[in-house]
Amino acid sequence: MQRIALGASGPELSRLVYGVWRLADSADTSVQATLRRVHACLDQGITSFDHADIYGDYQCEALFGAALKAAPELKARLQTVTKCGIMLTSAKYPARKVKHYDTSAAHIRASVDASLSHIGVDVIDLLLLHRPDPFMDAAETGACLDQLVQSGKVRAVGVSNFQPWDCELLQSAMQTPLATNQIELSLLAQSPFTNGQLAYHQQRQQPVMAWSPLAGGALFGDGAAAQRVRPLLQSLASQYGVGLDAVAVAWLLAHPARIVPVLGTNDLGRVQALGDAFKVQIDRETWYQLYSLAAGVEVP
Ligand SMILES: NC(=O)c1ccc[n+]([C@@H]2O[C@H](COP(=O)([O-])OP(=O)(O)OC[C@H]3O[C@@H](n4cnc5c(N)ncnc54)[C@H](OP(=O)(O)O)[C@@H]3O)[C@@H](O)[C@H]2O)c1
Repeated sequence: MQRIALGASGPELSRLVYGVWRLADSADTSVQATLRRVHACLDQGITSFDHADIYGDYQCEALFGAALKAAPELKARLQTVTKCGIMLTSAKYPARKVKHYDTSAAHIRASVDASLSHIGVDVIDLLLLHRPDPFMDAAETGACLDQLVQSGKVRAVGVSNFQPWDCELLQSAMQTPLATNQIELSLLAQSPFTNGQLAYHQQRQQPVMAWSPLAGGALFGDGAAAQRVRPLLQSLASQYGVGLDAVAVAWLLAHPARIVPVLGTNDLGRVQALGDAFKVQIDRETWYQLYSLAAGVEVP
């Protein structure tokens, strides 16, 4: 499995990351079932796991942590990515009046401490602000993120779903370089290729993490774009002896922006085959064939 460094002094992630957003939705959330999935990732060299405080209505970090508690020797082999800043309305927080964002220093610090405790690790390798917060005080948030890195609780910080101007604002108030931006990116979510998001991070040599690289499963559904692109995905999958999902991930890996797909299947067989994406070579014309089929138009 390829590895990718997030900046000169940032952590190194596996080129494919496993996301645990859907962990609490799996039919079997037992420690043993979670460990089977973690082992299936590690066996292929997928060592980086993407969490958020809110996943599974605030349950997923603890579910994952329970598995690590049963197999603590795994902790040294994996990298922990987690996020903070979204405040869900939830039975767990009955006093909360509205879904909102909180990037105050007090909330970020409390969220990091809770994540460390739930997952049961000593350090978060990469902390992401989950969404741009229109009420953010950049000076306060930036200083807090710097301080978390200095304290050693967090190795690197980044953002998620930020536009270039959101990154500029936050970065202007920080000393630590932002390591990455985790954005929605797939055959069915192509706008970052042309809206400036990828260009911004390429210019700064920051790898971008792609959430829902299979469009959250919509690539296998009845939508028009999925139906247009599937025959070619299928034909390439047959040529390489892999699944359609591997071809869709290879399409992201082929791009020069050094995209890091974050995959979220709960199916053990699919987890075991995630590394198949590296068997597929996507050349320039094939990349554009898939791009144009999904978009429904030829490039101008
Ligand atoms: N930063 C953010 O704002 C943000 C937002 C969303 C997600 N994320 C991160 O991104 C990760 C991945 O997101 P995701 O789960 O939406 O990614 P995804 O890999 O695009 O989608 C996974 C979904 O696709 C289905 N699927 C996968 N392969 C399939 C196949 N061959 N045939 C049919 N269905 C298939 C899975 O079902 P099965 O489980 O049945 O395989 C699952 O429901 C999350 O876990 C989270 O860490 C971040």
